[in-house]
Amino acid sequence: MFAISPVQSMLFEEKTIFVKRDDLLHPDFSGNKARKFYHFLSHDYDHITQLVASGSAQANSLYSMSVLAKQQGWQFDYYVSHISDFILKNPNGNYAAAIANGANIIDVSQLNQGHQYQQMHLDDVVQHIVASDYDNEKSLLHIPEGGRCEYAESGVGILATEIIDWVILHKIHALKIFLPSGTGTTTAYLNKQIMQQLVSKNIKGINIEVLTCSTVGGDDYLRQQFSQLVTPEYFPTIVNDGRKYHFGKLTQRCFDMWQTVCRSGIEFELLYDPVGFLVLKHYLQQYPQWDGDILYVHQGGVLGNQTMLPRYQRKFGHTE
Ligand SMILES: Cc1ncc(COP(=O)(O)O)c(C=O)c1O
Repeated sequence: MFAISPVQSMLFEEKTIFVKRDDLLHPDFSGNKARKFYHFLSHDYDHITQLVASGSAQANSLYSMSVLAKQQGWQFDYYVSHISDFILKNPNGNYAAAIANGANIIDVSQLNQGHQYQQMHLDDVVQHIVASDYDNEKSLLHIPEGGRCEYAESGVGILATEIIDWVILHKIHALKIFLPSGTGTTTAYLNKQIMQQLVSKNIKGINIEVLTCSTVGGDDYLRQQFSQLVTPEYFPTIVNDGRKYHFGKLTQRCFDMWQTVCRSGIEFELLYDPVGFLVLKHYLQQYPQWDGDILYVHQGGVLGNQTMLPRYQRKFGHTE
């Protein structure tokens, strides 16, 4: 269904690192969306007529799900806890593209029970709404925020296979895979799949470690997210640079890092990748003696830059 994504090299902190270009997998299912939604794209879902999901109004997954719903002829209701005035007045990026695909984006704070919902986690709100407001459970597909569900594992398993095949082809003996986490779904399943596939294929003498960092809520929160998906033996290694990152907060450090890595010729995305590279930089500085290879997984999402870049430029100016 998707071709194998290419691996390219780039210079980062005076070291050659490899980048797994999952962003090139598909224009509509860029990066980890192709992996997470592979299950829905490759199975028969004829009995479904309606998709319900939730998350941020600018999420990369919003756009990919809107394409999925359009392709399958499903009605698509997407719940958000808030839509900024700016995006309402200037719709673009994932938000505008999803609406163009027919997504019905519902701000829960504007619903009758909005006040009550404000105290609840968005996933719980949507679960409540699904139970009370939708009639036909059998024809409804509910995907939790960020695609955080067991269906994501089969597609992420293909990413694991591609990486293992690449490692064997290039006779790599020690590899650290790095990718920033939101819900932790991609890293948790990637680590589990790599560990299981190395055993099931009886591959010995290759040392692969999956490293990740939190971009939302800190390390403990990320561990909590992992525990909803996999058992502790499969938790990836969480690294940090001693700073707490607030998801979506615009900082000069993040903007500078994004500009630095984009000079490689590869466009990275602006929500997760700057944090990923800042933490990776810190990690490499901490372990200068480590001479194995690094593979950074580009998880796509550059369509969201259409919204994020103007916000950065308004805040910090056009520095390039
Ligand atoms: C570009 C990008 N990087 C990283 C992530 C985090 O992925 P996850 O929620 O599986 O941890 C996302 C969200 O799906 C994303 O769009």
